[in-house]
Amino acid sequence: EGKEKMALQKTVFSGPFIHSESLDKLEICPNGSIGVDESGKIAFVLKDASKEEQPSGWEQAKAVKIQGHGFFFPGFIDTHIHAPQYPNSGIFGKSTLLDWLETYTFPLESSFSDLAQAKRVYNRVVSRTLSHGTTTACYYATIHVPATNLLADICHTKGQRAFVGRVCMDRMSPDYLRDENTEQVMKATHETIDHIKKIDPAFDLITPILTPRFAPSCTNDTLTELGKLHKASGLPCQTHISENKDEIKLVHKLFPDNKSYADVYDSFGLLTEKTILAHAIHLSAEERALVKMRQAKISHCPASNTAITSGEAPVRLLLDEGLTVGLGTDVSGGYTSSMLAEAREAIFVSRHIAMREGDKVKLSVEEALYLATRGGAKVVGLEDRIGGFEVGMDWDAMMVNLASPPHEDDYNELDQSQGVVDVFGKETWDEKVAKWVYTGDDRNTSAVWVKGRLVHCRKGVTV
Ligand code: GUN
Ligand code: FE
Repeated sequence: EGKEKMALQKTVFSGPFIHSESLDKLEICPNGSIGVDESGKIAFVLKDASKEEQPSGWEQAKAVKIQGHGFFFPGFIDTHIHAPQYPNSGIFGKSTLLDWLETYTFPLESSFSDLAQAKRVYNRVVSRTLSHGTTTACYYATIHVPATNLLADICHTKGQRAFVGRVCMDRMSPDYLRDENTEQVMKATHETIDHIKKIDPAFDLITPILTPRFAPSCTNDTLTELGKLHKASGLPCQTHISENKDEIKLVHKLFPDNKSYADVYDSFGLLTEKTILAHAIHLSAEERALVKMRQAKISHCPASNTAITSGEAPVRLLLDEGLTVGLGTDVSGGYTSSMLAEAREAIFVSRHIAMREGDKVKLSVEEALYLATRGGAKVVGLEDRIGGFEVGMDWDAMMVNLASPPHEDDYNELDQSQGVVDVFGKETWDEKVAKWVYTGDDRNTSAVWVKGRLVHCRKGVTV
């Protein structure tokens, strides 16, 4: 609390910086300089510091410089992650969605009635995602209000920008993990909203998000009330859609009067420009048109879609049709909490589709990084504040360092603290970025800032 309120020091970040200019183009400024003011906002951006003058009044500012091979990059935006499922990362066997939920997920989530468990896990997942450069995360918690509120506290204290959702599930859920009825769902939902209003009244860093788990796990009454609250409060909403074929069949059975899965959400007022839909793998053309008309957003979760074999989301098609797409790790359907790994997964899934459909559907490194930053910013409705380096935006950023050339023939001389990206110095900038995406990991993320505040720094790194 005290730390968070501490005034920031005006800082000039100098050295190479890279961000997305458009879906398929990165802007690379090898000799950049970015000034961040006491409120954590970007005050100036010099794309070439050798040609442009630094504004006056910044002579005394703190200086943070890139050393060796490296660059500043916008923080990643994880548009879909289940914080309580983090202990199950990598544990999914050969399950598919519905039996995965029963076998692995619901039992683990039920353990969050224990606040000590929540404290242990939520501290770990927030620290870990920050270490991967995730500056904004859209979290699903569980049905438990005290644990969900603790997740909000932990994000707030550690300084991660977050959307925190108390999960609503009053149907088709086991007795040990189910809301009693609509009244209780709404009471619990309000308790988390009220808690977040207390810790962050303007929702500057932490925002409550309405979270009907997915259509099958909510009664019609609950969906109706959540739709009303969504409209009345203007709070965002997140849910799952069209992830798995058996799930879709179940939705048709449970909602026989609705035309489609997307139509179910639409009929309850839960398909709006403030709705984040995870997966969206098997949407029909009609559903995609409806999602587009409502300006609802899509969280693409390729690692999860591969792990629990849900399918391949047709990202090129979604983008071509003008839908807004970001990336989500979907821990622990997804095995990784790293958005860098998720970007890589997005690229590889697209290449598998390309083996059938042709090169056009391949996502490039640039496109995957766009989805992880600017795309995610649009998904969470913060494209004017985060996702790139523009004057007036918040400094949500990471410092990426790539290894310097190792001492010849001596593996022991490799600087393990700088990760496994071997950069020999002859690479173009495009090649360095590709090496980072394909061979990098959290060891290359030296430091991370949210709203100008340092929220992660690797051991041995000083900034
Ligand atoms: N659908 C309903 N609940 C979940 C969940 O926890 N993870 C995923 N991937 N899909 C879901
Ligand atoms: Fe999910």
